[in-house]
Amino acid sequence: MTEEFARSDATGTGAPGQQAAPSGGGAAGGAAGAASGAAPGGAAHKTAWSGRFEALPSAEVERFGASLPVDKRLWREDIDGSIAHARMLGHAGIITPEESDRLIAELEAIRARIEAGTFKPDYLAEDIHMLIEAELTARLGDLGGRLHTGRSRNDQVATDLRLHLKRRLTDEHLPLLLDLREVLIEAARTHQKVIIPGYTHLQRAQPILLAHYLGAYVQMFARDFTRFLAARTAADVSPLGSAALAGTSYAIDRAMTAEELGFSAVTINALDAVSDRDFVLDALYACSVCQMHLSRICEELVLWSSTEFGFVTLDDSYATGSSIMPQKKNPDFAELVRGKSGRVYGDLMALLTVMKGLPLSYDKDMQEDKEPIFDALDTVADSLRILVGMLGTAHFHTSRMRSAATRGFAAATDLADFLVQRAGVPFRQAHEIMGNIVLYAVKQNRLSLEQLSLDELRAFHPAFTQEALELLNPRTNIAHKTSAGATAPVAVAAQLQASAAQLEADRALL
Ligand code: ARG
Repeated sequence: MTEEFARSDATGTGAPGQQAAPSGGGAAGGAAGAASGAAPGGAAHKTAWSGRFEALPSAEVERFGASLPVDKRLWREDIDGSIAHARMLGHAGIITPEESDRLIAELEAIRARIEAGTFKPDYLAEDIHMLIEAELTARLGDLGGRLHTGRSRNDQVATDLRLHLKRRLTDEHLPLLLDLREVLIEAARTHQKVIIPGYTHLQRAQPILLAHYLGAYVQMFARDFTRFLAARTAADVSPLGSAALAGTSYAIDRAMTAEELGFSAVTINALDAVSDRDFVLDALYACSVCQMHLSRICEELVLWSSTEFGFVTLDDSYATGSSIMPQKKNPDFAELVRGKSGRVYGDLMALLTVMKGLPLSYDKDMQEDKEPIFDALDTVADSLRILVGMLGTAHFHTSRMRSAATRGFAAATDLADFLVQRAGVPFRQAHEIMGNIVLYAVKQNRLSLEQLSLDELRAFHPAFTQEALELLNPRTNIAHKTSAGATAPVAVAAQLQASAAQLEADRALL
């Protein structure tokens, strides 16, 4: 396998589609190239099941069935799984300790060659499992063929995929979500006093603190963390030793391989273990919801960076220009994160659809699980990295936010509450009175409640006092909202403290 093979996996950036067409010389290139050169029906090579067959598939058919261009990303996990299996076979006396040691040493040598970029097999392989076994057999002869004792590719691929998910969620998604929450809490703390208009229906609703707004996303990403953690827990069960579907007559030790591979438990039913892809769907769902949250915050960054809002300026390193309009600064990367939610949802739908009609146990359809999960994991991890950087460098225009929060009728609800609390007016009636006041102001062409005098207010209800006018000041207005989870500075300080405590507790879980 070439450096390209190792690198595209290590960085996690190689899209499956790109990997399917390596520039040549790679493992996939070798395999695909060799496959396309094979004569239809020719005995150019021997398959793992050649005992039963009199003809080989054509190159075209073979290429259609191959998954190596995609599942080569499982090479680490495949070697880990095979080493654990080989060690267990030796320990259980199914192969000799010496055979076990030689298999393990050769698997380690293959790992080293892949890492060094010097693994260049020149023979056919359908998938990563067959490729590594073929390499083992090429080096060790008949001994290589003993590795698969008491194992099937069905439990092998399920094991590899579970290990892969666990590793990537642990190394990428979970820590990235901690980073994102940290950046948001930091921004909220830096801007504790900044007031923005809060919106419903994208119409100005009530003034809130910017920190209250940022704190809302902190909570969404905290729940995403919990979802990814649950997906990791779902993946954390070893199917190895389930063999094809029925288990095996060899005296294997499933607890031993599970422990060596770092699984917390072993699956209970062999048929379920090889048929189950719920754990992949759990991760895809976690990816979909997280990407949806990322999309929403990006939508707001796009809106807020428009001249019309002018609430935020993205750092130049997170924007692009226009090839025709010199003045343009476009929030391309926020838009792309928003746009990529489509493909992540598509990945979830793709696998749900693949699985819905499958009889137990393994069906080849299930090979279609890898492209969606790799794509979703890549997309969400990339998007999280982009957002951490984009939010960490964004500049908030606090005076512009404040003046937007002052203008308009955002205090109307609070004046209604004033009538309820001070004059015992039923809320519905107070709402009606305030509606009349706003209508009056609009007809008079006054753009905000502040432009009305106390006498004008009193004409609508005699209970209005100077204190009511003070509610028109957004700062005073906000200060009254002290209920738990509310937007008063004291309530927001408490929620940020709670969010920071959640963050620390979650950090300790990793
Ligand atoms: N490449 C296959 C996959 O990803 C491996 C499992 C093959 N098992 C089988 N019974 N053909 O699903």
